[in-house]
Amino acid sequence: MVSSAAGDHHHVTGWRCAVCSAVVDIATDFPWRCPNATATDRHHLLQMVQADTSPASTGISTPDAHFAWAGHAAANGMSLADRMEMVSRLNSAVGAVAGTDFTPTPFARSAELSDALGFTSAGGVWVKDETGGVAGSQKARHLFPILLHLQAVEAFGRLPERPPLAIASCGNAALAAATLARAARWPIEVYVPTWMSDGFGVQLDRLGADVRRCERLRDDPPGDPAMLRFREAVEGGAIPFTVQGPENALCLDGGRTIGWEISEQLSSAGIDSVDRVFVQVGGGAFATCLGAGLSLQHPSARLHAVQTAGCAPLVRAWQRAKELDLGPDEVAHHWGQVMTVWEQPQSLADGILDDETYDWIGVFAAMAASGGSPIESPEADVITAHELAHSAGFDVSATGSAGLAGLISALRSGASSGDPIGASERVVVVMSGIER
Ligand SMILES: Cc1ncc(COP(=O)(O)O)c(C=O)c1O
Ligand SMILES: [Zn+2]
Repeated sequence: MVSSAAGDHHHVTGWRCAVCSAVVDIATDFPWRCPNATATDRHHLLQMVQADTSPASTGISTPDAHFAWAGHAAANGMSLADRMEMVSRLNSAVGAVAGTDFTPTPFARSAELSDALGFTSAGGVWVKDETGGVAGSQKARHLFPILLHLQAVEAFGRLPERPPLAIASCGNAALAAATLARAARWPIEVYVPTWMSDGFGVQLDRLGADVRRCERLRDDPPGDPAMLRFREAVEGGAIPFTVQGPENALCLDGGRTIGWEISEQLSSAGIDSVDRVFVQVGGGAFATCLGAGLSLQHPSARLHAVQTAGCAPLVRAWQRAKELDLGPDEVAHHWGQVMTVWEQPQSLADGILDDETYDWIGVFAAMAASGGSPIESPEADVITAHELAHSAGFDVSATGSAGLAGLISALRSGASSGDPIGASERVVVVMSGIER
């Protein structure tokens, strides 16, 4: 099982905390959290250290040298052939459970959206459509490498029993997590709020998840009770099978495939550059990964993180960092000052109501590097975008069309924004999260 065949050169060489600079070797099992993070000091974030950032050209269903999970497996002696076998087995199992496995999702210019928003034929709106992906959203991309990592550790004989997976969510992330857990036949606990819809509960039950409805307990500190119970489960030995970088840094590994795929699809279409990308932001892992993945080949595609007026902690944090005159390398050291909890989040886009943008550091980095900025979209634009997306043929939730809402808001603010969008620009949005 010893690797190092030609071409098996690994790009991710380890992990480093953006806040305290702690370093974790790539060969380390379970690199979920910074070793200095504690129950009372959660402001740490492991980020991948990359030896080189030459363009990636493969999808999530390959054991590509760009993946952190593959770097760990190789560093522990698993051969490329064994990694390929593991990926393909798990991917087939995902296909059997979800009805689709990990294959590239569609990416194309939408004539309807481009015309409706006044773009010329030289520019327009390109849509990455994730609604037909595994479990109907991008969430499974983030989770797949966590499972591959666990299976690798199992293969090394260092995980004799399977601790349960755990996630706190009542949306697309929970569905993706339960789908992948089912494919791997791994037990999963899903912590949900009491108000979760029954229809959703039925789907989770069908996937065999152990659903735990979480009421607020008398002695609970402030915060989401489902999140509190999730953290207790993790402290008790469960695996954080979550799409929040500070809780499990490996979720930032596979999410990058969406950016790699878009790059590849752009070049297949003969398009050499894009001007902007609008992406809806809840916890921020998605925008972090899209930015990181796309920047390899399109470093100047301006990333615009979109939040709604009813829940915009990232937009507020960006303004604060500006007021404090903090540069991109300094912000991480001011976490408590810059990123604070949003009181009473509210929007039709209910999948991005995270009261704190957990992965704000990665989103800031991607916006700063590309010359982008965050956008706060009024609720009226969220509604318009949802309707427009449906009339353009996308069966997407209001959460999943919120990136388009940001584009609509940005077009309206025009010259007053100081960075008006030209009618011949090429703009990318991601429609994710099938309407349920
Ligand atoms: C459809 C959809 N798009 C985007 C997001 C945002 O992703 P993130 O929470 O990583 O910012 C979510 C989930 O939160 C989602 O369900
Ligand atoms: Zn740290």
